[in-house]
Amino acid sequence: MTMDKEYLEIRGLSVSFDGFKAVSEVDLTVLQGDLRFLIGPNGAGKTTLIDAITGLTPATGSARKSGSELIGKKVHQIARLGVGRTFQTASVFEQLTVLQNLDIAAGAGRSAVTLLRKRTSVLPAIEEALETIGLTALRDRPAGILAHGQKQWLEIGMLLVQNASVLLLDEPVAGMSAEEREETGNLLRRIGDDRVVVVVEHDMDFMRAFASSVTVLAGGRVLSEGTVEQVQADPKVQQVYLGTAAAGYLPPVTAADTAIDEKEEAAHA
Ligand SMILES: Nc1ncnc2c1ncn2[C@@H]1O[C@H](COP(=O)(O)OP(=O)(O)O)[C@@H](O)[C@H]1O
Ligand SMILES: [Mg+2]
Repeated sequence: MTMDKEYLEIRGLSVSFDGFKAVSEVDLTVLQGDLRFLIGPNGAGKTTLIDAITGLTPATGSARKSGSELIGKKVHQIARLGVGRTFQTASVFEQLTVLQNLDIAAGAGRSAVTLLRKRTSVLPAIEEALETIGLTALRDRPAGILAHGQKQWLEIGMLLVQNASVLLLDEPVAGMSAEEREETGNLLRRIGDDRVVVVVEHDMDFMRAFASSVTVLAGGRVLSEGTVEQVQADPKVQQVYLGTAAAGYLPPVTAADTAIDEKEEAAHA
């Protein structure tokens, strides 16, 4: 075990579907402790990029996790290297309890029967994950009764017990209440300190509140990258978001803008 920081380093990554380039020559570097948001219009290639990194779709180019090449490896090999992802729709086992879901994810080598038997002790890693995702009190309840947001947190917990150190989360707050979003943002901050976290997101308010850096994808390519302020001020970014459902993305009116307006109004008065 080294004390080196984890990182995800993507170089020249491309994905083609029958000649259509859904992801095109993408370069992306995310370091441990950085909470990176990956945004872009529908069809920009965000999910496909995650699929490529996690081995779900063939790709060319390179994606390394702390030096280990992922492209060309199988899904389970990539998971074993500590790269985990969530899907746009949560995929937990509804009939099993929260604890059983985490148990399965931890894959402690027990048979299904052992797994389903009532357990007297809980692995420390699972205890810790329960605490982190805020579901300790609900650990013996079936996952099916969880609220939408809680299911997403359980999925994140499943990645934590798998020891994933690179987490790729595909629209984790979609359909969440404002309160759940806030909780999720805080959760991402908690887990982001010692992990690489990439969050695909549509919700611009959520991004403004929690992103430490942002990469904008459009037409399969990286359009812009930087801090929230930098990408918001980028005319290229404003261009792709104009006239889309995400037009609310445009930066809010600043004090400087207001001062200019007032001056103009005064001039015309
Ligand atoms: N399996 C597939 N076969 C063909 N085209 C696909 C497939 N998956 C995604 N695409 C296309 O690739 C582009 C990127 O899709 P996607 O990665 O889902 O975008 P995003 O997640 O940014 O909304 C879209 O044009 C989509 O239609
Ligand atoms: Mg998507």
